[in-house]
Amino acid sequence: MLNFNMSKIVYIHTFGCQMNVHDSEKMLGVLQKEGYSSTDDPCKADLIIFNTCSIRQKAEQKFYTQLGRTKFLKKKKPEMKIAVAGCIAQHEGENIFKKALYVDFVFGPQNIHMLRDLVSERTASIAIEDNHEIAVTDLPVKRGDGVKAWVTIMYGCNNFCSYCIVPYTRGRERSRPTENIYSEVAELAEVGYKEITLLGQNVNSYSSDTDFPGLLKKLDRVGGIERIRFVTSHPKDLSDELIAAMSDLPKVCEHIHLPMQSGSSNILRLMNRGYTYEEYIRKVMRLRAKVPGISITSDIIAGFPGETEDDHLLTIKALKEIEFDGIFAFKFSPRPGTMAAAMVGHLIEVIKSERLSEILKVQDGITTRKNRSLEGTIQEIIIEGDGETDKEKLTGRTRTNKIVNIPKINPETSSGQKGAIINVEITKGRPHSLEGRPVEK
Ligand code: 5AD
Ligand code: SF4
Repeated sequence: MLNFNMSKIVYIHTFGCQMNVHDSEKMLGVLQKEGYSSTDDPCKADLIIFNTCSIRQKAEQKFYTQLGRTKFLKKKKPEMKIAVAGCIAQHEGENIFKKALYVDFVFGPQNIHMLRDLVSERTASIAIEDNHEIAVTDLPVKRGDGVKAWVTIMYGCNNFCSYCIVPYTRGRERSRPTENIYSEVAELAEVGYKEITLLGQNVNSYSSDTDFPGLLKKLDRVGGIERIRFVTSHPKDLSDELIAAMSDLPKVCEHIHLPMQSGSSNILRLMNRGYTYEEYIRKVMRLRAKVPGISITSDIIAGFPGETEDDHLLTIKALKEIEFDGIFAFKFSPRPGTMAAAMVGHLIEVIKSERLSEILKVQDGITTRKNRSLEGTIQEIIIEGDGETDKEKLTGRTRTNKIVNIPKINPETSSGQKGAIINVEITKGRPHSLEGRPVEK
């Protein structure tokens, strides 16, 4: 048994998406109540948790490499506990123990609430049950930032896109009660948070006491919160009501991440996405007409099974036609148990790589051109802290979610501090960020 009178130290290694980063904040929240503090150094830890991602094979491989390293740590410090959480834990279950004998316990993304019992050995060493209560059980969260906060509004996914493992690891859609979300956001505002990002695999299919546009309307009224963002939206659930909410509600930012996946309607059908390219672009046009200056970002998969050269060229054409502000693009990665993994027409790696490079090259040109077109404009940013690469700079984001680096402002002044909302003139547009200088409001 662990001794709760002594302070214990946890190291959490997070792989994958924002959802996982936020799940790690929940794990820390639960563990803090059990007397744990966190460290960035695995050697100092009494407990190491790997919060894993199985969306693509690469993410899985990275985890297994890291897990292998902890074997030696544990040899030196046998009382150290090692846990595997997240989507690989959910998918692999007991197999994890066979692959790595030194793992102490395993729990899935729907069982974070079990962590209390798992660390104290009050329960068996595996917790991967479907948990339908997950939407109503509010877990404590240990957030680090102080300015921006993630807030989960729904769990799971019902869409079963043919390539995607998420519906198998995170279960069916469950929405949190509006009241609980509202209280969490109000509490965040009270302690000084300025920006919230509503999280869900499919946020715009949120359905509880109200629908997603209704939730946005409610949250827009929380005093102290200046910006509301949300990820990820599914194109098929992008309603006119949501577009109207984005247009009318002052705090809802002018940015949407709207994964297109492919510019070929044939491939979209095989992906089970529920829209054609023509339907997708019509929604993009409607967004741009109703929400001036909106930035639209997307996800693209290169080399889906059966994708012909013509299908690929349709994706390239779509990128040029739509001109996204940015994309995340990935090579198709077969995930065991998904429909696409069993399809015919898998492409060889070189073709997937070539197509991915071409997609990235075309988009890089578009992103750079778009960023340059912002030179000379005035943008509002919220300062998030020191620049990631250049500590002599401050960094912030525009409402359209673009990173802006500015020269350091005197930290004694209110505008030089984390959380300050200031206006900047964009002086340079780069491929992945902007440079600016502060100007009077
Ligand atoms: N292979 C490649 N990319 C994938 N994604 C999801 N599953 C796969 C897969 N099997 C991508 C999609 C999704 C993003 C989060 O990850 O583009 O939008
Ligand atoms: Fe995966 Fe599709 Fe659900 Fe997104 S909408 S999590 S891509 S199944």
